[in-house]
Amino acid sequence: MQIESIEINNYRLFRHAVLSDLPRMSVVVGANGSGKSTLFDVFSFLKESLTQNVASAVARRGGYRELVSRGETGPIEIVVKFRESGGRLATYQLAVAEDGGRPVVHREVLKFRRGQFGQPWHFVDFSRGQGNVITNEAAYGQAGVEAQRKEHVLDDPSVLAIKGLGQFKEFRVVAEFRSLIENWHISDFHIADARSSAEAGYAEHLSTYGDNVAQVAHYLYQNHRDRFDRVLEVMSERVPGVNRVEAKPTEDGRLVLRFQDGSFKDPFIARYVSDGTIKMFAYLILLYDPKPHPLLAVEEPENQLYPELLVELVEEFRDYARRGGQVFVSTHSPDFLNGARLDEIYWLVKAQGFTTVQRASDSELLRDLCAEGDLPGALWKQGLFDGVGLR
Ligand SMILES: Nc1ncnc2c1ncn2[C@@H]1O[C@H](COP(=O)(O)OP(=O)(O)OP(=O)(O)O)[C@@H](O)[C@H]1O
Ligand SMILES: [Mg+2]
Repeated sequence: MQIESIEINNYRLFRHAVLSDLPRMSVVVGANGSGKSTLFDVFSFLKESLTQNVASAVARRGGYRELVSRGETGPIEIVVKFRESGGRLATYQLAVAEDGGRPVVHREVLKFRRGQFGQPWHFVDFSRGQGNVITNEAAYGQAGVEAQRKEHVLDDPSVLAIKGLGQFKEFRVVAEFRSLIENWHISDFHIADARSSAEAGYAEHLSTYGDNVAQVAHYLYQNHRDRFDRVLEVMSERVPGVNRVEAKPTEDGRLVLRFQDGSFKDPFIARYVSDGTIKMFAYLILLYDPKPHPLLAVEEPENQLYPELLVELVEEFRDYARRGGQVFVSTHSPDFLNGARLDEIYWLVKAQGFTTVQRASDSELLRDLCAEGDLPGALWKQGLFDGVGLR
């Protein structure tokens, strides 16, 4: 799946904002308080709305009044346009409003566009717990066939229809879309969590907080040795003195990461290696994942890392995106930005309390300067992203 655009209405400082023509990897920059974390929170909000319901997703964010853009009443709306693996263009629209003090799904639509000019088919179209779904999905795309629908009532108007219906096999397209969102990875990595030893257990993917890095390292070591060896190779190139890392089971049934420094006989356990060491290792475990998440969002990956390493890290994110996971990264680092292309850079600008999204490649000046060999991070540092007539 490739997300082509995201439109956000009335969600905190995004009163109306659109990110369009999204590439496989997007790098989001902007001043403090311009909305980078909020943008990533929109992904989490969608995922939580699906896995739980909109009422609890809103409650976790301080309630409806707090979440809706100041001065607005709503509805809060997120519209995601995406291309599914079969190449079809689809739109998922979720609008949330308040009903007697309780957040409910005001409108939820999942529609696919038929051909270039055809009317879209609404696979799912619900409002406040009632709506309909298509029953002849297999006929979608056939000339002259009309959509057939069946009415449904959901138990709870704060539950998404794609959740309530996604479990039924007959709604294959819906189920696929649902499992895509469920597998989004919005990183909230904490170094302290990654240091702790994990219960010896099985994990294929790094968790949101990074607290299972030892388990995933162990999984890679046992099942994808080529990937694991590559991670070690990169680690030893980047972090002086680290030539081997292993996830070792302890006697009390835990799994401990041990970092071997060539200068000493005994390795250092994760608790005692440097912040940057543990972070680089966790990121490599995340990015060399043999099965990328459909979407990966990471905030400010540059923290704790040596600036010179960032350009290579950008390339690793890009490679992850190439292998199937669409990537969103926010950054404050010119060095990180130097590794990005102009068309990958989205610039958030806040004015009068609300944020608009601009794309660096829309600026002719930036395009010309980069064509002459300037790097985006250097231009950004010179203040050239501000006021250069970005649309
Ligand atoms: N309901 C709301 N309406 C309007 N603005 C809001 C609302 N809720 C929060 N905000 C604004 O959004 C800001 C938070 O922005 P966010 O955390 O996304 O910025 P950021 O780009 O991640 O900044 P940083 O670089 O500091 O991490 C708050 O400081 C506040 O000004
Ligand atoms: Mg932030």
